[in-house]
Formats: sequence, structure tokens, C-alpha cells
Amino acid sequence: MNTSNEDTSNEDTSNEDTSKEAGLGIAIVGAGSVGRALGRGFAGAGHRVTYGVRDPGDPRHAALRDGGAGVASVADATAPADVVVLAVPADAVAAAIASMSLRAGSVLVDATNAVRTPVPDGHDTMGAFVAALVPGGVHVVKAFDTIGAEYLDGHRSAPPQPGAGSPFLPIAGDEAGLVVVERLATELGFDVAVLGDRTAFRIVEDHARLWIHLAFARGWGRSFHFEARRLEARHGVSPA
Ligand SMILES: NC(=O)c1ccc[n+]([C@@H]2O[C@H](COP(=O)([O-])OP(=O)(O)OC[C@H]3O[C@@H](n4cnc5c(N)ncnc54)[C@H](OP(=O)(O)O)[C@@H]3O)[C@@H](O)[C@H]2O)c1
Repeated sequence: MNTSNEDTSNEDTSNEDTSKEAGLGIAIVGAGSVGRALGRGFAGAGHRVTYGVRDPGDPRHAALRDGGAGVASVADATAPADVVVLAVPADAVAAAIASMSLRAGSVLVDATNAVRTPVPDGHDTMGAFVAALVPGGVHVVKAFDTIGAEYLDGHRSAPPQPGAGSPFLPIAGDEAGLVVVERLATELGFDVAVLGDRTAFRIVEDHARLWIHLAFARGWGRSFHFEARRLEARHGVSPA
């Protein structure tokens, strides 16, 4: 496996159609709270979802199949995918990526957070750790980690609450991947803010820490999201 953490997207032309309007093939590695919510949302938006799991024969996964998704080994799910979503605990990231079969030109979406475990030594962020583990030519994007899992399914489980606006979703990473992930997140109803390239992973992860801090350390609970409200420019006040 090439472990270069450079975005070598310009060298790859094998899968450059991932931003077309047709449904995408999406592999979700980690069929937990985040993975299942995103899977429901993406399938509801017309994409083909396959879960990559450690034991495809485990009866726990029957409900995923009943819902219309595929269930396969991590290698088989990821090999043909346009988009791979990484939704495993931080301490399982290295093992999960090692079991993937990633194509140059595909998009790897990192939804992980370092919760109850530190970011591995030598890396500033989980996003940087993930990027160091995936082959060159895979477009890495940090997304879907800044809000509770229950808000990630595009309101397939619960309708929007009266008066609620679109939840704010910051994303960062490689340009070719950002185009794809911005589309997917917008389909799920998010107000997407593209923060920049891989150097902005930290800002996304800090935003996740803010949500987690308010939810658990400050007693807000899980029932909130951030919204960005764009205002009219104020007369006579110049931006800094
Ligand atoms: N929960 C949230 O509200 C939330 C929101 C945003 C981001 N996140 C982040 O998203 C990630 C997933 O969170 P979660 O709440 O969805 O966790 P979860 O419910 O505990 O699910 C984790 C899933 O990962 C699977 N898994 C573990 N190692 C694997 C491997 N090597 N290959 C394939 N699958 C593997 C587990 O499978 P088994 O059941 O077989 O162990 C489980 O299905 C975490 O990094 C978390 O910090 C969570």
C-alpha cells in the first residue's frame, strides 16, 4: 500500500466521474450509529450503499440487507466504491483502513473523532492520521463528525423540528473529494461550509469537540445542532 499522504489527485483519471448526478456507489465501513444513519440517508437520496463489515454472515446485519443495502467484507465493499465512509472508533481506524481495497480516484470520508482515545502519535488530527494511511490518489475529506449520529440520515427517521434551519456542517480535504461530499451532505439537508484543504482538518475536528463538549460536559444533551445565519452587510462597517 502506498502510504503517501500527498493528494496526488491530478495524476488519476480512473474515477473522475464521481461528481456526476447519477447515484454513487458508497461503501460504509463501520455499521454503527454513524454508519447506519449515513447509509439510510445516502440510500434515500438514491445512492447504492454497501456496508463493509468484519463478519458479513453475522445475523446482526440482516436488518441492513432488509433495508436494501449490501453487506460485504470490508475489502469487497470498498473495492468498487466511488466513496468510502470511515465510521469506526478511533482505535479501530488503522485496522479498518488496512482491510480496505481503495481505488485511486475514489473518495475517503473520515467521520471519526478521537473520543476517549488520543490522536495517534505523530499526527495532529484524526484526519491527518487517516490521510497518512490511505494510498496516494485517494481523495480524503473530513466530514460528518461534527454532529450527533441521529442527525446524519437526512431526516429519514424523524422529521425536521418546526422552526429548525439547516444544520451547519463544516468539511475539509482534497478538492476533488470536497465536490462529491458537499453534494452528498447537501442532499442530506446540511448547510455545508467548505473550510479548505487538509490543513483545515483541525478546524473541523475542533468544531466536533465543541459539539461534544456542549453535549456531554456542559449538559446540553444531544438535541441541538449549529446553524449559520448569513446577515446583510452593515452599512458603514467594513470587514476586517
Ligand atoms: N455517535 C455519534 O454521535 C458520532 C457522531 C459523529 C462522529 N462519530 C465518530 O464516528 C465514529 C463511529 O462512531 P459510532 O458512534 O457510529 O460508533 P459505534 O456505534 O460504536 O459503531 C462502530 C462500528 O465500527 C465497527 N468496526 C470496528 N472496527 C472495525 C473494523 N476494523 N472494520 C469494520 N468495522 C469495524 C463496529 O463493528 P462491531 O459492532 O462488529 O464492533 C461498529 O459497527 C467514531 O470515530 C466516532 O467518534 C460519532
